[in-house]
Amino acid sequence: MDNAAIISALNRNAMPDAGQLGSDQRTPLKPPIKYPGGKRFLLPRLRRLIRDVPCTRFVEPFAGGLSVSLGLAPERALLNDLNPHVVNFYSWVQQGLTIDMPMRNDRTFYYRLREKFNALIKADRFNSREAAEIFYYLNRTGYNGLVRFNKSGLFNVPFGVHKTIAYKRDFSEYRSLMLGWELRCGDFCDLTVRDGDLLYVDPPFDVEFRAYATGGFGWEDQVRLVEWLAELTCPLIISNQATERIVQLYRKHDYRLSYIKAPRMISCNGDRTPAREVVAVRNL
Ligand SMILES: C[S@@+](CC[C@H](N)C(=O)[O-])C[C@H]1O[C@@H](n2cnc3c(N)ncnc32)[C@H](O)[C@@H]1O
Repeated sequence: MDNAAIISALNRNAMPDAGQLGSDQRTPLKPPIKYPGGKRFLLPRLRRLIRDVPCTRFVEPFAGGLSVSLGLAPERALLNDLNPHVVNFYSWVQQGLTIDMPMRNDRTFYYRLREKFNALIKADRFNSREAAEIFYYLNRTGYNGLVRFNKSGLFNVPFGVHKTIAYKRDFSEYRSLMLGWELRCGDFCDLTVRDGDLLYVDPPFDVEFRAYATGGFGWEDQVRLVEWLAELTCPLIISNQATERIVQLYRKHDYRLSYIKAPRMISCNGDRTPAREVVAVRNL
C-alpha cells in the first residue's frame, strides 16, 4: 500500500470539526513517544504569544510528537501529520489504548518486532491496534527515538542502547484531553483552515537531510508552506531553524521574527548539536 492509500484510509476515521481553545491549567501531559524535533522548550514563549488571542480551534499542520498540543492542552484542535504511523498511534490513544503485548529491551526481540511491524505495513494493516502498539515499542526501544522509514515506507531504525526503559502500558490519561481533537494524516496543504483558528506551524527543519516520512521536506516545501500560509488571515506562529534563507523567506512574507536557542536535540540523523531557531509571527 502506498503513502496516499495509507493517508486516505486513516482520514476516513477523522472526527468532525468543532471547538474552543481551552484555558485549562492542568499540569501538561508529557508526549507519549520520543520524537525528533519536539518543541516542549518553546511552550513558555508560545503561551505568552497566544495568551490574549481569541480563538476557537488550535491547528497544528505538523503535529509530530504532540509536545505543543499536549503542553497547551486546547479543548478543540485539528492536528495533522504526514506520518501515518504516529497518527495511527494517536488515534488508538484517543480511543483509550492499553498495551498488553510483552515489551523487552532486547536486540533480538526488537528486530523481530520491527519485522512484524513492517509485515503489517506490507499487509495494509498499518492502522491496526497491533501496529500502534508495536510502533510505541519500537519508538521507545529503537535508536534515539528516531522515526525513520526507507524509500519503500518500511521502518528502518536500528536497536538503541538504553540501560533501562520505562515502558508505558496505560495511555488512558490522554483520552479525555484528546476527545475534542481531530486527527488527520496528510500533506499540510490539504487542511481546511477556518475563521477562529490559531495555527502553530512547526515544519521539518531547513536542513539537507530530513526524512520523518518517506519523501523528506526540501526547500521547495518550505517555500510551498509559506505560500500556503500567505492565503490565511488567522493568527499564526511558525518555528524553524534560523538558517539565512529561512529568515529571509519569513521576512519577505511580513512575519515578526524573534530567536531562541534550542536545547540539545536529536535530529533524524542522530545529530545532537543545538540549533538557533526562529519564531515567526503573523496576524497577532
Ligand atoms: C519538527 S517535526 C514537528 C514536531 C512537533 N512540533 C513536536 O513538538 O513534536 C515536523 C513534522 O512534520 C511532519 N511532516 C513532514 N512533511 C510533512 C508534510 N508535507 N505535511 C505534513 N506534515 C509533514 C513530519 O512527519 C514531522 O512529524
